[in-house]
Amino acid sequence: MRQVRGANPFDGDWTPTRVPLFGFGRPSVPFPHLWNYREPLRILDTFFWATERETGSGKHNRYLAVPGLPYVLVTREPAVIRAVLSATGDKPGQFDRDTTPTVGIARATGEDSLLYANGPLWRRQKHLAAPSFSRSNLFQPEKFHEFEQTFRATVAKRLELLRARQQATGQRTTRIALEPEIAVVMLEMLVNNFFGGSVSYEELRERFAPALTRCIDHMVRDTIAHSFRAPLDIITGRKRSLNRDQAAFESLTDIALAGRTNGLGLWGEFKSDAPNEKLRSNIRVFLAGALEATTSFASWALSHLSRAPQLQDRVYEEVKTIDVYDPENLEQAVTLNRVLEETVRLTPSLYFLPRWTTVDTWIETADGRKLFIPQQTHVVLDVWHANRCEDFWGATLTGYSADAFAPDRWDVLAKQGPSAKDILHFGFGHGPRVCPGKFLGLLEVGLVVGAFVKIFRCTAVNAETRSRAGVSTKPADGGLVDLELR
Ligand code: HEM
Repeated sequence: MRQVRGANPFDGDWTPTRVPLFGFGRPSVPFPHLWNYREPLRILDTFFWATERETGSGKHNRYLAVPGLPYVLVTREPAVIRAVLSATGDKPGQFDRDTTPTVGIARATGEDSLLYANGPLWRRQKHLAAPSFSRSNLFQPEKFHEFEQTFRATVAKRLELLRARQQATGQRTTRIALEPEIAVVMLEMLVNNFFGGSVSYEELRERFAPALTRCIDHMVRDTIAHSFRAPLDIITGRKRSLNRDQAAFESLTDIALAGRTNGLGLWGEFKSDAPNEKLRSNIRVFLAGALEATTSFASWALSHLSRAPQLQDRVYEEVKTIDVYDPENLEQAVTLNRVLEETVRLTPSLYFLPRWTTVDTWIETADGRKLFIPQQTHVVLDVWHANRCEDFWGATLTGYSADAFAPDRWDVLAKQGPSAKDILHFGFGHGPRVCPGKFLGLLEVGLVVGAFVKIFRCTAVNAETRSRAGVSTKPADGGLVDLELR
């Protein structure tokens, strides 16, 4: 009845305003459908279309109400995002991770994974899988040196190949799309260094990386197709090649698990007697999720650097003498760290974080303000728009406009002291469901970006690139650059 009357179902100090279902001149409709699911950022744009005119809490908090369907709350207010993320977990009344936007992922990987599970199953998965990735575990000096060395050797070999290719052309520059190259190196580190496999570079490049990329693309299509009961892959004739790709994904999962029997790679750190079958879903999530997120992160970092030659030279000055990427060296590479932090702020790999209220819920933000969210509401934490909003990241607060790539804003923030610690970009999430692969990911991406800048100078072919968003965001031009040896 409230829906029919059009009454606002939310309450409190952060009350959202309603987004009309249809409207003139907007980027899209405010819900995913077969014709717009490839452009999820436009769907989110729609929620904040023309909100400059709003002065109250509706400027950053919007809701969609369609009679007969659950409410959708979209927020780009960092204080609200933080409060929701802190109140996500397995305690009574806490938020679940909303599984609707990841149905396609779960159908491909299995539901019993750390990413998809909620409640007690999620807690069990977290105890099982997360400690192996923790900072305190990975960053113990002896362990760290061992795997850093193998990671570094892999990156060095691949960059050497690229260098030789470049030299062989006899030309001063070569034009390449960086993203596919990065995806193979990331997969190699994951499969061979992390899980102890020994798959050749050629097989990773020709077979596994493209197959996995297509499987990930299918997960996005499948999420939409599933909710509209439309067999998209049959319509588009992709079914047979999809079966082949899924078989490759399974082989890769088998290879990753085989390392466990012999204690190879980092399996030695994994303390559990769970049978392999119980780990399959998580391994699939780690393979697909880590490949996707680290490729997105490194592609964006190099894409931004390719449009900022002076910054690239500053990073080069720092890394030209770094041979070992141990925590101390990495800490001293201040510009590189700022570049990584700014990349994950401006172009976060995961652009929204989905949550779901299991019961009527009140949340309280750090400054004591409250928001009531009715039970069974899809809560979309729109990190992409929060991080590009002038009110939260603009010149007044950080010294640079919110939509600029400006690693030096982190110096401005550092000078503000402890109060700046409350300015969060949520690039790795926050709270109990924060990314367990954060430190592994940062190490991998730091290594790839640092080692790359040490050998090459790269210049973007296009003055600007748009963002392509699927499971994660990527530069729409694939990171197209002209490469030159330093
Ligand atoms: C370096 C790039 C990465 C980025 C930017 C990233 C980002 C994120 C974010 C934002 C979340 C929180 C999602 C939410 O709150 O709904 C998350 C969760 C997760 N990430 Fe990452 N991630 C990265 C690398 C990795 C790696 C390398 C792994 C595994 C090896 C990994 C595994 C996971 C898993 C399993 C979760 C779910 C945790 C849970 O729900 O308890 N990530 N990631």
